[in-house]
Amino acid sequence: MMTGKNRDGFYLTTPIYYVNDVPHIGHAYTTIACDALARWHRMRGDVTYFLTGVDEHGQKIQQAAERRGMTPIELCDEVVVNFKKLWDVLEISTDDFIRTTEDRHIEVVRHFFKTLVERGDIYKGLYEGWYCVPCETYVPDGQIADGNICPDCKRPLTKMSEESYFFRLSKYQDDLIKHYEQHQDAIMPRARYNEVMSFIRGGLQDLSVSRTTLKWGIPVPGDERHVIYVWLDALINYISAVNYPVPGGRWETHWPNVRHMVGKDIIRFHAVIWPAILIAMGVNVPLRVFAHGWWTVEGEKMSKSKGNVVDPFEMAAIYGKDAFRYFLLREVPFGNDGDFSELGMVQRINSDLANDLGNLLNRTLQMIEKYRDGQIPGDSSLDGRNDVDESLRALAGKTLADMDGEMDDFAVDSSLKTFMALIRAGNKYIDETQPWKLGREGSGGRLDTVLRTLWEILRLSAILVYPYMPSTAGKMWAQLGLDGEVSEARHSTWQWGKTSREIKVNRGDVLFPRIDLAEWKKEKVSRDAARMAALSLEKGTPAGVSESGKFGQISIDDFKRLEIRVARIEAAETVERADKLYKLHLDLGFERRVIVSSIREFYKPEDLVGKKILVLCNLKPAKFRGIESRGMLLAAETTRDGRELISLAVVDDDFPAGSLVS
Ligand code: ME8
Repeated sequence: MMTGKNRDGFYLTTPIYYVNDVPHIGHAYTTIACDALARWHRMRGDVTYFLTGVDEHGQKIQQAAERRGMTPIELCDEVVVNFKKLWDVLEISTDDFIRTTEDRHIEVVRHFFKTLVERGDIYKGLYEGWYCVPCETYVPDGQIADGNICPDCKRPLTKMSEESYFFRLSKYQDDLIKHYEQHQDAIMPRARYNEVMSFIRGGLQDLSVSRTTLKWGIPVPGDERHVIYVWLDALINYISAVNYPVPGGRWETHWPNVRHMVGKDIIRFHAVIWPAILIAMGVNVPLRVFAHGWWTVEGEKMSKSKGNVVDPFEMAAIYGKDAFRYFLLREVPFGNDGDFSELGMVQRINSDLANDLGNLLNRTLQMIEKYRDGQIPGDSSLDGRNDVDESLRALAGKTLADMDGEMDDFAVDSSLKTFMALIRAGNKYIDETQPWKLGREGSGGRLDTVLRTLWEILRLSAILVYPYMPSTAGKMWAQLGLDGEVSEARHSTWQWGKTSREIKVNRGDVLFPRIDLAEWKKEKVSRDAARMAALSLEKGTPAGVSESGKFGQISIDDFKRLEIRVARIEAAETVERADKLYKLHLDLGFERRVIVSSIREFYKPEDLVGKKILVLCNLKPAKFRGIESRGMLLAAETTRDGRELISLAVVDDDFPAGSLVS
């Protein structure tokens, strides 16, 4: 069995992403990390193959398409464009992009299924479970709410059983344990290894691998009432993309070196189910499955309804794709969870990229221009070296070797720390050698050595930083006056002092202008406000920003005449012969009162009781159907798809009834 240090070939995969929605930073993170690793390996001279793609079958996609009134394939064709566009914007250097609706993939999935049936590893049985008919889905045991209720729609579940094909996962429990005992770095980081091992040791059950409740998928060969379970279909992408089982295909050269990068949420599919299927097929299992952590946003879970989903297109547009890539890769120990904050990103850009990296390049090139007319002093200038030069030069060599080891372990963040230590040492070297004094003192030889040393450090740095920030590396390369493309450089041919021709530097724009914090804060506040307004519009409760003009202006005193208070709804009664009305009994803390409200078509009584709502209390009393209403509740109104919608203005449950709104 090969180890993670294998240098002949390097096959790296991202998960294939669901096309039911637009890409977010989670998707960008996995893919950027893989891109850095793939680029690193290419520079190391490894025959590299880097795969990404999309997962297009299954319930999620079918439902998303239904919601949008499209066929599933129409949805896939539309959304896949967003992923491809994002990978272009972020400069992702994939060698292949696979879609699970492509024939090359479907053929291999059918081949896997047929072979496993022939070998007796897939058999027909009965699937039993709690099924939600409105949602058309089985609800896993752990997610069933009290009283056998669906966790999504809250309606009662039905016990169902249906015919299904099963994969004999239980049969491979011992093989998996043995394999992982012998290959302790096959699952990384260590905590994930332990988690997977204890899961396997806890006992594996056979896995249902077909569905009859769903149409959008690959039909089971010879039994087309069933479609193949989306995860079995999806996992096979990794091997269908390298032309399994065509003799002499890439799968022979690359499959033995395959490494899967995934988020921690899908480690079991990759480290338990997938290898068991491969063992059953007689194919070697992945060399490594690495699970990275999850991003929260400003301390909270990312969610559409909170409006805090980070849009990678927007981040790249505002901060630049390289700065965004750098931040994601550097900020969090790879494998751990992390918190995304734009302020954190701005600080990182200012300290690491503007102050350290950009500054080193700019200072060095300015001095070369000023003291040597932009001409790099020749190699011979390195002869008069002293300890300070030697130690920087030694650090450069060590940096390359250390980063290489770190990238072997997928410790992407550590490798960037190592890189930055070299850049800081470069800046410190300038402070120590004080080239501006040497210039004045006429110590020509010494100044040549210093400038040449700095230029060499930057030349190596451009190569080292290329996998993480390809454009920046390209700019550095050009400004340093180097020919060709930095991407063509190879670690093995890099050597200190070896540049044969006369070189003139080409100082250009600063790489990373410092971001002014005060300006940035202002811009961020208005961006957030625009986003929240867009979100409330989407939810159907227009913020009314553009319309507000039509109401005319009032003074604060006008507003103060409104007695708006928090009220707890105690009961909601229907009103005879008035199917729109409720008689609401309210608790205002200091008194009880009744209001009549026309919200019956929007809320059930049980949805109202207990809610803390806002009520205009000093409205003149009025009678409806003989009932006196003393006040009016506040709610937002809109129409969506021609239907009227309302949303009550509510306050936190623990807020006291009677409180005044001001
Ligand atoms: O799971 N932080 O697709 P998917 C970090 N199609 N990474 C995150 C993240 C977050 N908050 N949210 C998502 C699927 N990810 C299947 C995979 S593979 C054969 C099939 C990343 O679109 C993370 O890599 O839900 C996670 O594994 C992936 O997005 C899931 O993307």
